[in-house]
Amino acid sequence: MNDTILILNGPNLNLLGKRQPEIYGHETLGDVEALCRAEAEAFGLTVDFHQSNAEHQIIDWIHQYRVGSAGIVINPGAFTHTSIAILDALATCEVPIVECHISNVHKREAFRHHSYVSLAATAVLAGFGTHGYVLAVRHISHLRGLQGQV
Ligand code: DQA
Repeated sequence: MNDTILILNGPNLNLLGKRQPEIYGHETLGDVEALCRAEAEAFGLTVDFHQSNAEHQIIDWIHQYRVGSAGIVINPGAFTHTSIAILDALATCEVPIVECHISNVHKREAFRHHSYVSLAATAVLAGFGTHGYVLAVRHISHLRGLQGQV
Protein backbone atom coordinates (compact mmCIF):
# COMPACT_ATOMS: atom_id res chain seq x y z
CA MET A 1 0.00 0.00 0.00
CA ASN A 2 2.76 2.41 0.99
CA ASP A 3 4.42 1.90 -2.40
CA THR A 4 1.22 2.01 -4.43
CA ILE A 5 -0.10 4.94 -6.45
CA LEU A 6 -3.85 4.92 -7.07
CA ILE A 7 -4.70 6.15 -10.58
CA LEU A 8 -8.36 6.97 -11.06
CA ASN A 9 -10.25 7.76 -14.23
CA GLY A 10 -13.77 9.11 -14.34
CA PRO A 11 -16.66 8.92 -16.80
CA ASN A 12 -16.16 8.23 -20.50
CA LEU A 13 -12.42 7.63 -20.15
CA ASN A 14 -13.07 3.93 -20.84
CA LEU A 15 -13.62 5.14 -24.42
CA LEU A 16 -10.21 6.80 -24.66
CA GLY A 17 -8.83 6.27 -28.17
CA LYS A 18 -12.33 6.18 -29.68
CA ARG A 19 -13.79 9.24 -27.98
CA GLN A 20 -13.12 12.58 -29.74
CA PRO A 21 -9.58 11.56 -30.78
CA GLU A 22 -8.96 15.07 -32.10
CA ILE A 23 -9.10 16.20 -28.45
CA TYR A 24 -7.98 13.14 -26.47
CA GLY A 25 -5.74 11.33 -28.96
CA HIS A 26 -5.64 7.74 -30.19
CA GLU A 27 -4.13 5.97 -27.20
CA THR A 28 -6.44 3.73 -25.19
CA LEU A 29 -6.77 3.68 -21.41
CA GLY A 30 -4.93 0.35 -21.52
CA ASP A 31 -2.01 2.14 -23.20
CA VAL A 32 -2.07 4.78 -20.45
CA GLU A 33 -2.09 2.09 -17.78
CA ALA A 34 0.98 0.46 -19.33
CA LEU A 35 2.82 3.81 -19.43
CA CYS A 36 1.99 4.47 -15.78
CA ARG A 37 3.08 0.99 -14.67
CA ALA A 38 6.43 1.33 -16.47
CA GLU A 39 7.08 4.77 -14.97
CA ALA A 40 6.13 3.69 -11.44
CA GLU A 41 8.26 0.55 -11.71
CA ALA A 42 11.29 2.66 -12.61
CA PHE A 43 10.90 4.29 -9.21
CA GLY A 44 10.19 1.09 -7.32
CA LEU A 45 6.48 1.88 -7.02
CA THR A 46 3.38 0.03 -8.16
CA VAL A 47 0.10 1.26 -9.59
CA ASP A 48 -3.54 0.39 -8.97
CA PHE A 49 -5.34 1.66 -12.05
CA HIS A 50 -9.12 2.07 -12.20
CA GLN A 51 -11.86 3.64 -14.27
CA SER A 52 -15.52 4.13 -13.43
CA ASN A 53 -18.47 6.02 -14.82
CA ALA A 54 -20.03 6.06 -11.33
CA GLU A 55 -19.30 8.83 -8.84
CA HIS A 56 -19.83 6.60 -5.79
CA GLN A 57 -17.26 4.07 -7.05
CA ILE A 58 -14.63 6.79 -7.45
CA ILE A 59 -15.37 8.03 -3.92
CA ASP A 60 -15.04 4.49 -2.51
CA TRP A 61 -11.61 4.06 -4.16
CA ILE A 62 -10.44 7.42 -2.77
CA HIS A 63 -11.50 6.29 0.71
CA GLN A 64 -9.46 3.09 0.37
CA TYR A 65 -6.25 4.96 -0.53
CA ARG A 66 -6.68 8.23 1.38
CA VAL A 67 -4.15 7.23 4.06
CA GLY A 68 -1.04 5.09 3.67
CA SER A 69 -0.75 4.95 -0.12
CA ALA A 70 1.99 6.69 -2.12
CA GLY A 71 -0.52 9.11 -3.62
CA ILE A 72 -3.48 9.52 -5.92
CA VAL A 73 -3.55 10.57 -9.57
CA ILE A 74 -7.06 11.45 -10.69
CA ASN A 75 -8.61 12.39 -13.99
CA PRO A 76 -12.18 12.88 -12.83
CA GLY A 77 -13.50 13.54 -16.35
CA ALA A 78 -16.61 15.70 -16.27
CA PHE A 79 -16.97 15.14 -12.49
CA THR A 80 -14.10 17.65 -12.26
CA HIS A 81 -16.58 20.41 -12.97
CA THR A 82 -19.57 19.13 -11.02
CA SER A 83 -18.66 16.94 -8.07
CA ILE A 84 -18.51 18.43 -4.60
CA ALA A 85 -18.73 14.83 -3.34
CA ILE A 86 -15.42 13.89 -5.01
CA LEU A 87 -13.87 17.12 -3.71
CA ASP A 88 -15.01 16.23 -0.18
CA ALA A 89 -13.53 12.72 -0.51
CA LEU A 90 -10.20 14.13 -1.74
CA ALA A 91 -10.18 16.67 1.09
CA THR A 92 -9.97 13.75 3.56
CA CYS A 93 -6.73 12.48 1.96
CA GLU A 94 -3.40 12.57 3.75
CA VAL A 95 -1.44 11.64 0.61
CA PRO A 96 -0.47 13.79 -2.40
CA ILE A 97 -3.12 14.23 -5.08
CA VAL A 98 -2.31 15.04 -8.70
CA GLU A 99 -5.26 16.14 -10.83
CA CYS A 100 -4.58 15.24 -14.45
CA HIS A 101 -6.44 16.29 -17.60
CA ILE A 102 -5.44 15.05 -21.01
CA SER A 103 -6.72 18.17 -22.76
CA ASN A 104 -5.99 21.78 -21.88
CA VAL A 105 -9.31 22.46 -20.20
CA HIS A 106 -8.53 26.20 -20.04
CA LYS A 107 -8.52 26.40 -23.83
CA ARG A 108 -11.97 24.80 -24.06
CA GLU A 109 -15.56 25.68 -23.08
CA ALA A 110 -15.98 28.02 -20.10
CA PHE A 111 -17.70 25.29 -18.04
CA ARG A 112 -14.43 23.32 -18.11
CA HIS A 113 -12.41 26.19 -16.63
CA HIS A 114 -13.60 25.57 -13.09
CA SER A 115 -12.51 22.49 -11.16
CA TYR A 116 -13.88 21.52 -7.74
CA VAL A 117 -11.12 18.90 -7.54
CA SER A 118 -8.36 21.54 -7.79
CA LEU A 119 -9.40 22.82 -4.34
CA ALA A 120 -8.01 19.57 -2.88
CA ALA A 121 -5.23 18.82 -5.39
CA THR A 122 -1.54 19.07 -4.57
CA ALA A 123 -0.77 19.69 -8.25
CA VAL A 124 -2.70 20.03 -11.51
CA LEU A 125 -1.74 18.94 -15.03
CA ALA A 126 -3.70 19.83 -18.16
CA GLY A 127 -2.89 19.69 -21.84
CA PHE A 128 0.02 17.24 -21.69
CA GLY A 129 -1.99 14.54 -23.43
CA THR A 130 -1.61 11.07 -21.96
CA HIS A 131 1.99 11.95 -21.05
CA GLY A 132 0.44 13.95 -18.19
CA TYR A 133 -0.23 10.68 -16.35
CA VAL A 134 3.45 9.76 -16.61
CA LEU A 135 4.43 13.19 -15.30
CA ALA A 136 1.98 12.76 -12.43
CA VAL A 137 3.49 9.39 -11.46
CA ARG A 138 6.95 10.91 -11.69
CA HIS A 139 5.93 13.83 -9.48
CA ILE A 140 4.62 11.54 -6.75
CA SER A 141 7.92 9.63 -6.94
CA HIS A 142 9.77 12.95 -6.71
CA LEU A 143 7.79 13.98 -3.61
CA ARG A 144 8.94 10.73 -1.99
CA GLY A 145 12.56 11.55 -2.82
CA LEU A 146 12.93 8.52 -5.09
CA GLN A 147 15.61 8.27 -7.76
CA GLY A 148 14.35 6.61 -10.91
CA GLN A 149 16.00 4.17 -13.31
CA VAL A 150 14.77 6.21 -16.30
C1 DQA B 1 -10.89 15.72 -19.19
C2 DQA B 1 -11.49 17.10 -19.40
C3 DQA B 1 -12.93 17.15 -18.91
O1 DQA B 1 -13.48 18.46 -19.11
C4 DQA B 1 -13.77 16.15 -19.67
O2 DQA B 1 -15.10 16.15 -19.17
C5 DQA B 1 -13.18 14.80 -19.67
C6 DQA B 1 -11.74 14.63 -19.82
C7 DQA B 1 -9.48 15.60 -19.81
O3 DQA B 1 -8.81 14.62 -19.52
O4 DQA B 1 -9.06 16.46 -20.59
O5 DQA B 1 -13.90 13.79 -19.61
O6 DQA B 1 -10.77 15.49 -17.81
